[in-house]
Amino acid sequence: MKIQPSKKMALFVPAIFGDLKKHAQLQQQHGMELIDLSLGSPDIAPSETLRQKMAELTALSSSYGYTLTGIQMFNEAVCRYYERVNHVKLNPATEVVQTIGSQEGLVHLPVAFCDPGDIVLTTNPAYVAYDAGIHLAGAEPYYMPLTKENNYLPDLQAVPEEIAQQAKLLILNLPGNPVPAMPSIQYFEEVVAFAKKYNIIVLHDAAYSEFYFKGDAPISFLATPGAMEVGLEINSLSKSFSLAGTRIAYIVGNAKMIAIMKQLKSNLDFGIFEPIQQVAALALDNAEEVTAILRQTFSERHKTLMEGLTSIGWEVAPSDGGMFVWAKYPSSLNSVEFAFKAIEKTGVVMVPGTAFGTAGEGYMRLALVQPVEQLQKAVARLKSLAH
Ligand SMILES: Cc1ncc(COP(=O)(O)O)c(C=O)c1O
Repeated sequence: MKIQPSKKMALFVPAIFGDLKKHAQLQQQHGMELIDLSLGSPDIAPSETLRQKMAELTALSSSYGYTLTGIQMFNEAVCRYYERVNHVKLNPATEVVQTIGSQEGLVHLPVAFCDPGDIVLTTNPAYVAYDAGIHLAGAEPYYMPLTKENNYLPDLQAVPEEIAQQAKLLILNLPGNPVPAMPSIQYFEEVVAFAKKYNIIVLHDAAYSEFYFKGDAPISFLATPGAMEVGLEINSLSKSFSLAGTRIAYIVGNAKMIAIMKQLKSNLDFGIFEPIQQVAALALDNAEEVTAILRQTFSERHKTLMEGLTSIGWEVAPSDGGMFVWAKYPSSLNSVEFAFKAIEKTGVVMVPGTAFGTAGEGYMRLALVQPVEQLQKAVARLKSLAH
């Protein structure tokens, strides 16, 4: 039998992560001790309370049915969390939809709102799921560059008028991955005005909202006046609560948009395992305990890597949050060559900037997923890399 992928599959190219992993494993087999800073997968275990609760719930025979659009308890916990942390009041019945991790929500959302050929405004570089969703919907990305000059915030005024007129969706991510820029109320006000002017739906990915190292929490997009009329925020329990493997996230915001997402999802899946939803509700209700420890841990790591890389001549993008460091390395090699050379010579595994878009050339993304001592060791080893 001749097996042939659809033409669309040409748009879903394998990510570089697999190749990096293979190369790293090969070096490990040759005796290299690896320091893996590639994936943004939290290395801190979920709290004992959450793990106990999960064990208890999975033992119940009543836990195994379909949950369809999800249990009310989870949606209510999301609303309580949003009110406490972001000062945003939401209706659990109409303004929340659960997703199977935010990846699932991000990849499917453009299908709900975009027709083939519609333009989606996104950034270069950006988290890779945005492009996957845009391709799935048959829409066209328009990339807004993230530059040092604009403090790594997409410049909406630089979007050509005819592009803005055709755009259906705008995707933002602050604090961002791979570039950890932070949001501000002024910036989000500009986003709301732009969205209203051109009738564009805004999707703000707040996956790293709990990763901030100075002052108050980054503002939620939905806390901006007028934001509930134009958009949605997606957030996940993967990073903030170390629940990446249990796959649970949510989209909140405009009720009409949420209803459209629910309609789409009712055709795609039958809900998340109930113990996961209950554990997630417990995590959200006790968020402050968990996230305070998280911030303390990550802010020390952040400081270590930012200062360490600067001291060896790397140019790091300034930031006070996020789970990553975005840094220009001092070498004329392209970012893929440099990442592979770093694995071979130092055992430090980083993601080349171009994995997130062409504007990532010359940069590395380093995830803060190792203890401080390991990060210090990584910097010392990277210092030895010849220019
Ligand atoms: C910006 C951003 N959004 C969403 C996700 C997806 O996370 P999950 O599907 O685990 O919620 C990631 C994961 O790395 C991310 O970096």
